[in-house]
Amino acid sequence: MDEVLFNGVPIHFDEEGVGPAVLLLHAFPLSSQMWSAQKASLKDAFRVIALDFPGFGQSRPLAGPATMDLFAQAALAVLDALAVERAAVVGLSMGGYASFALHARAPGRVAALGLCDTRAGVDTEEGRKGREATAQAVEQQGSGVLVERMMPALLSKGASPSVRAEVERLIRATPREGAAAALRAMATREDFSSRLTRITCPTLVLVGADDALTPPLESQRMARDIPGATYREIPGAGHLSHFEQPDAFNAAVRAFLEQAKGRPLIP
Ligand code: MLT
Repeated sequence: MDEVLFNGVPIHFDEEGVGPAVLLLHAFPLSSQMWSAQKASLKDAFRVIALDFPGFGQSRPLAGPATMDLFAQAALAVLDALAVERAAVVGLSMGGYASFALHARAPGRVAALGLCDTRAGVDTEEGRKGREATAQAVEQQGSGVLVERMMPALLSKGASPSVRAEVERLIRATPREGAAAALRAMATREDFSSRLTRITCPTLVLVGADDALTPPLESQRMARDIPGATYREIPGAGHLSHFEQPDAFNAAVRAFLEQAKGRPLIP
């Protein structure tokens, strides 16, 4: 893994493969390690870049409060360090929230958008309160509390024991400080739902058919609002669709990226 300093904090990233750049933005409360199957499947045709958001994986937390915009800026710092002018940005769930922020901040850097198991809207007031309560529990008891609280929402009932074990391992590996900061960052994120009609790059909206956190109906609406967006549903998958059905997920993402590559938008 390499690192770049962002606001004085080391942000870790890695890259594999050669070709048009694809930036992978991970979900909460995981890390760039969640993308191993996607990196393996794309690296023969793409330059695949994955980073740990501040406070996750090997990246240290930011000094002050985190925001999705700061996460997007950290991702842009990684692209700068690699001299990548434009990349296809693929974000899953919290990675999707950061993708919206990145697109809003620097649309010219986004050659294509993959919005996976995510939403453009914000939390309800009750949801925000729940995030704060969870952030405090994480600070006091560690990230293990997230296993109990989140696993039922992250995976479908049919998820295999090995997928469950890997997700649990990644959650437990997340430092409590980073998890708490990201919970507060998600609670205060910007609402992009009224800006979907302004997205002009090729866009994929993908969702697990059994996603309980960001359900297909909401993803269908989001896809309808984004001009020319492609919509894909992954059968037999919950929220972390890339873990539960990696082959179907990778095939959908790859087909989309190949098609987007054919257009003039990706150099
Ligand atoms: C994620 O998968 O990144 C989170 O569950 C998103 C969220 O809590 O809103």
